[in-house]
Amino acid sequence: MTMTFTLETPTRILFGEGMIDELASQIGPEERVLLLYGGGSIMRNGVHDRIRQALAGHVVTEFGGIEPNPEYETVMRAAVLAREEKVTFILGVGGGSVIDAAKFLSCAAPIGGGDAWDRMLGGRDLPEPLPSGAILTLPATGSESNPVSVISRTARGLKLPFKREAARPRFAILDPSTMKSLPRRQLENGVVDAVTHVLEQYLTLPVNAPVQHGYSEALLAVLFEWGPRLLVEDSDEARENVMWAANQALNGLIGAGVPQDWSTHMIGHALTALHGLDHARSLSLVMPHLMRNRMPNKVAMLARYGRRVWGVAEADDRAAADLAIARTEDFFRRMNCPVAVRDVPGLAVSPDKVVQHLEEAGQLPLGENADIGAAEVRAILKAAG
Ligand code: NZQ
Ligand code: ZN
Repeated sequence: MTMTFTLETPTRILFGEGMIDELASQIGPEERVLLLYGGGSIMRNGVHDRIRQALAGHVVTEFGGIEPNPEYETVMRAAVLAREEKVTFILGVGGGSVIDAAKFLSCAAPIGGGDAWDRMLGGRDLPEPLPSGAILTLPATGSESNPVSVISRTARGLKLPFKREAARPRFAILDPSTMKSLPRRQLENGVVDAVTHVLEQYLTLPVNAPVQHGYSEALLAVLFEWGPRLLVEDSDEARENVMWAANQALNGLIGAGVPQDWSTHMIGHALTALHGLDHARSLSLVMPHLMRNRMPNKVAMLARYGRRVWGVAEADDRAAADLAIARTEDFFRRMNCPVAVRDVPGLAVSPDKVVQHLEEAGQLPLGENADIGAAEVRAILKAAG
């Protein structure tokens, strides 16, 4: 297979402590800004004050209350406000949930009639999105510079990804000092999510892509070293390294032109829709079992991963691959994330309901070889059981 891709990552990254003060220079003075935020962490950690100071000369309307795993109905209430206030620019401030909501909103607000969710799934004849920007306070998803929004619609029992290149934010401010107020659980989640993003673009088929594979290995090495340190050290280095690695893990670069396997994510989204699991925890629970289930496809890259990232010495590919999965599982455990259903008190997974979610979402078959159907999903969940 030869390599072919188009890659455009137009989001300007402003990285470092104090970069929120640059905000006004990124949004034209004439713009009418909608500041979108979540449950109030930005009120408590000073980020909101810094933004309002930076935007003192702008017309700003605020909409708070975007939930983790953002709800379609909530984003639609923000769309009504955006139209009423003739908003011209959406600024999302928070983690992946708020930034996903901001990007979805930027696409949905200009949609005049019909159901925005259905219109966006259809993907045709959509109006231009409003421009958006992101201020990231939780490194995890890469949402701040990628084209995807993951939105839940509880009324339909669904959690789905929406991808639109035009929805990539114009700029993203990554100030690692905003992470100081993060609870430990969110630090754990962020690191584990970023690790799985790299792995889903890297552990597929052994194609010719030494740049993408080498960069994936560098990102994994950073996350495996600095993720655990972030939990115990109050250091700028740990915050900076994790924040930058998590952004690079899902901005499109390491996935350009290579086969990808988003099956852990699609099964994980179903588990969150059905059981409310944190996004990262749904992934750690599925991924090791999915890798074992798909061993024949993945053995070559798993063995390479084991040797290059974990220093596994086994000459036999299968033995190296088994060890690579075991090391990954150990890492998830070190980050306090579940690797089996029994690790989550009270959780009872129904494989049928997960399969139903995947079918309704039109996501089956999954995997880089499109060979993960309903039977394989059931087997993976049974192994996780
Ligand atoms: O809502 P607030 O009050 O801000 O609190 C949040 C939330 O309760 C809190 N938080 C964020 N920054 C904080 C903070 N608390 C204290 N100090 C800070 N600096 O953290 C909690 C979780 O936030 P959330 O945004 O939900 O977490 P995350 O960034 O992990 O985002 C998860 C969402 O992103 C989606 C997931 O499915 C999930 O819905 N994803 C988006 C992707 C994308 N756009 O490409 C890819 C990912 O794979 C993922 O699916
Ligand atoms: Zn993720």
